[in-house]
Amino acid sequence: MASSDLMRLDGQVAVVTGASSGIGRASAIALAEAGADVAVNYRSKDEAAREVVAEIEKRGRKGVAMQADISKEDDVLALFDEAEETLGLPDIVMSNAGIQRDAAIADMSFDDWNAVISINLGGGFLVGREAIRRFRKKGLRESVSRSVGKLVYDSSVHQQIPWAFRANYAAAKGGIDLLMRSLAQEVAHEKIRVNSVAPGAIATAINAEAREDDKQAILDLIPYGRIGDPEDIGRVVAWLVSDAADYIVGQTIFADGGMTLYPGFRGNG
Ligand code: BGC
Repeated sequence: MASSDLMRLDGQVAVVTGASSGIGRASAIALAEAGADVAVNYRSKDEAAREVVAEIEKRGRKGVAMQADISKEDDVLALFDEAEETLGLPDIVMSNAGIQRDAAIADMSFDDWNAVISINLGGGFLVGREAIRRFRKKGLRESVSRSVGKLVYDSSVHQQIPWAFRANYAAAKGGIDLLMRSLAQEVAHEKIRVNSVAPGAIATAINAEAREDDKQAILDLIPYGRIGDPEDIGRVVAWLVSDAADYIVGQTIFADGGMTLYPGFRGNG
């Protein structure tokens, strides 16, 4: 098969959490572009989610906006039920929904800690568990993919790079790394692929304030010299869940313009 055919996702169903904006939005659209129907999960921005659905439909695919708070078990189960009823069992799940609540450690409330851990890491557990349950229920459909299912976590360079004033966020992303690899080890023999994408600084709402305050300070951390676009990550996700990446299992793909190269050491240290 030509490698471009291996990148197609025709006949597949995807669920993307936190898909009303940013990286989730771009990934949902990239998956549709490659041929998948997509359940567009959102927590509160229903209008934005419907706009993502319109983009998916423009590409000739089915899209459905589905409200759910990823940190709540009942919501996650209902989301996957609704996706199954409207689009069918999923072949692809992207666990993307996430937040930041930055604070110096002495000022970080337990609520700031819990909110970030329960959405970014707890949500990753709930979505990953449900994805694997539903992949098993669906089974292998060799005409659409060599694997039974593809689960992708949206991690971060901060699964590796410590982040002062964001201990909650870095701890959650560090957790995602071992959650992802533990699940991958557990289910790979069932032909379920679990991987992560780890974005660097991507122009989304999560870092809008930081980009406005001091864009140069961020650029100084990126050897490749530009802040990423959500589409940079969407393209990686669409490739990672395709059969072109069928032998990639339990890995994190860093898409960060070189941020993890610790550029401060260039000529120093
Ligand atoms: C954070 C962004 C930050 C980027 C690079 C991401 O995981 O959410 O706020 O710009 O990492 O530091």
